Amino acid sequence: MLLRNTHYPQDIAQAVQQWQAGGLVVFPTETVYGLGADARNSQAVAQIYALKDRPRFNPLIVHVASVGAAQRYVEWNDHAERLSHLWPGPLTLVLPHKGEICDLARAGGHTVGVRIPRHPLALAFLEAFDGPIAAPSANKSGRISPTTAEHARVEFGDSVPILDGGACEVGLESTVVDCTGERPRILRAGGITREMLGDGVSDAQEEQSGALRSPGQLESHYAPSKPLRLNANSVEAGEGLLAFGPDAPRADYSVNLSLRGDVADAATNLFAALRTLDAMPISAIAAMPIPNRGIGEAIIDRLTRAAAPR
Ligand code: TXA
Ligand code: MG
Repeated sequence: MLLRNTHYPQDIAQAVQQWQAGGLVVFPTETVYGLGADARNSQAVAQIYALKDRPRFNPLIVHVASVGAAQRYVEWNDHAERLSHLWPGPLTLVLPHKGEICDLARAGGHTVGVRIPRHPLALAFLEAFDGPIAAPSANKSGRISPTTAEHARVEFGDSVPILDGGACEVGLESTVVDCTGERPRILRAGGITREMLGDGVSDAQEEQSGALRSPGQLESHYAPSKPLRLNANSVEAGEGLLAFGPDAPRADYSVNLSLRGDVADAATNLFAALRTLDAMPISAIAAMPIPNRGIGEAIIDRLTRAAAPR
C-alpha cells in the first residue's frame, strides 16, 4: 500500500529507481519508519542529514537484505556470527567497515551499524535494490520516531515519497550492539531485549568513559513538544496521562499504552501515544511507571530521554 501522490512511487520498482537515482524514500520497518538512501552515495546521504536537520557526527544505520550482503560492507567476526541469528529483526550490529559505505553515512568513523529489518516490504525493497540503504528514523532530529506512514508525512510533508506498510509491529528502534570489542556491548536499548541477546553482552554505561558510544545517545531525544514527568501515579492540573495497565488513575486527557499491562503492546503504542498527547489541550504529560522487564527497558530509556532537559 502506498501513499499516492503525483511524485510518489507507485510500486517497489519505482522506489528502487528513486534510490538508484540518488533520491530518498521513506519506507516501513518493523521498528519505525526509515528515511532511506543509497549508503554508497554521499550526495544522497547528505540529503538525509539536511532533511532531518541531523548533526553530521551521528552515523546512520545501514540496512541490507541478507547476512551475505552485510558481510560485503563490514568485517564479520564471532560476535556478529553469534548474534546474527536474531536477524531479520530489530538489532543493529556495529562492526569495522570495509570500504563501500560512504564517509558521511559513517559520520567519518571506522565502523558501520548494519541491520536486516524483518518488515516484509522493507525486505522486498532491499532485495530488489540489491545494495545498502542508509536510513535513520524518518523524523526531524530530536523528534519522536514515526510508527505510521502518516507520522512520516507530518514530518516531511510531500517532499519525500512515502511507502505505506501499516503501523510498525515493534514500535521502538533497534537495539544497537557494538561488536568491535572483546565483548559485545549494548549502545542503545531497543526491540531486541537483553534476555534475547544472551549472556556475555555488556552495557555501554558500565564501561570507562572514552569508550565508543552511540553518538545519537548523547542528544536529548524522542521528545514530544510538551514537558514530560516520569513515574507519575496521579495527574496534576493541566497534565495529560500516559497510562499503563488496568489501574490507571482517572484523568480528563489520557492514553493507555496497554490496558492489560503488557510491555510489548506498550512499546508498539508508545510513539503514537506521545503524538496523541502532544496534540491534546494539556500543558504537560505525566507518564506512569513502566515495569523494567523485557522491552520495558527500552521504553524507560525513551521516556527518560523525552523527559530530559532540552
Ligand atoms: O530501528 C532502527 O534502528 C531505525 C530503523 C529505521 O532501522 N533506525 C534508527 O536510526 O533508529 P537512527 O539514525 O534514528 O538511530 C541510529 C542510532 C543512533 O543512536 C546512532 O548514533 C547509532 O544508531 N549508530 C549508527 N551507526 C553507528 C556506529 N557506527 N557506531 C555507533 N553507533 C551508531
Ligand atoms: Mg532516530
